[in-house]
Amino acid sequence: MSTGKRKEEHIRICLEEEIDSNKSLSGFDDVFLPHHALPEITYDDVDLTTKFFGKKLKAPILIEAMTGGTKIAEKINKNLAWAAEQAGIAMSLGSQRAALEDPSLESTYQVRDVAPDIFLIGNIGLAQVDKEELTRVIHMIDADAVAIHLNILQELVQPEGDRQSLRVTKDIIEKIKFVIKEMSKPVIIKETGCGVSKEVAIRLESFGVSAIDISGLGGTSWPLVESFRSDTSTGKTFAGWGIPTVVSLVECCESVSLPVIASGGVRSGIDMAKSLALGASLCGAALPFLKPATESKEKVLEKIDQFINELKIAMVLVNAKTIDDLRHKPVLVTGKTREILELRGFDIKKYARR
Ligand SMILES: Cc1cc2nc3c(=O)[nH]c(=O)nc-3n(C[C@H](O)[C@H](O)[C@H](O)COP(=O)(O)O)c2cc1C
Repeated sequence: MSTGKRKEEHIRICLEEEIDSNKSLSGFDDVFLPHHALPEITYDDVDLTTKFFGKKLKAPILIEAMTGGTKIAEKINKNLAWAAEQAGIAMSLGSQRAALEDPSLESTYQVRDVAPDIFLIGNIGLAQVDKEELTRVIHMIDADAVAIHLNILQELVQPEGDRQSLRVTKDIIEKIKFVIKEMSKPVIIKETGCGVSKEVAIRLESFGVSAIDISGLGGTSWPLVESFRSDTSTGKTFAGWGIPTVVSLVECCESVSLPVIASGGVRSGIDMAKSLALGASLCGAALPFLKPATESKEKVLEKIDQFINELKIAMVLVNAKTIDDLRHKPVLVTGKTREILELRGFDIKKYARR
């Protein structure tokens, strides 16, 4: 099956089937931000502006990588990009592999005509990493950064998955390090629903990557998506596999000094407030934007506005005027998330003592 056809099928399944993980897997329900009944700020005082690699964003939100390479993808990307431009947030395009294979598809990724000023991120899989390809990915869309995605679980459960070249050998690491050093734009490494552990984050930092997008467990489940494409039950078996988003977020923020993007099951402005309070630089969501993007650009903007409104309300309720204020507010991590983090050696109480 061609890359374009497969991508089309993924979109159809994500729109029609229940492929969003059980929300409780993400760990957000285990996180509490103590309510402040006497805030000293009003809703209009809240300032969500932030900087990401030197570019000012009106809110710390990223529309995560989804698509490209087909007619429907072109419409989705334009709607997402137009809304991101209006809202002043960042956006990532889906894997550009299809356009590397067939340059006539490049236009399905190009959105600068409707989004000249957004922080735009290109996307490619680890297997395609080479200096020339990565440079093409950036130039194709006039990107501000490029994300390299890791999707080992998806490759292992999808029928046509690449099982041969998954091993990260010494040679591959040397190549990744070389390519990252040669790139003139930031290189982000992202997962696709299984999260990034402390050990992997430290390794990625040593490769010279510029940021980590955790994409943890608790949101879109690729094993579930693949289970709707094939007859085997293997995808369903692995639906709960991965590092919960909140666990991965703390593991990464605590062990590297890179910007960390919280994603994977981020489904509200409250999830965003919790992520930012735990140290995220940006909050990313993919699935919540998919359906609106198939409808209209205005629907995407409505969804972004909903997130922004919820985030602002949550910030008033913890008396945080700015994102930096939010990062200094107490956060209580409870339940299974706390247990996992303590077993992994993190002093989770320090967030409560702020
Ligand atoms: C329809 C769809 C297509 C996706 N395609 C890509 C992709 O091409 N490259 C990538 O890095 N991630 C891709 N992802 C993963 C997302 O970028 C994100 O990491 C993941 O879905 C978790 O976010 P969510 O729970 O908010 O959906 C895709 C997600 C969806 C829903």
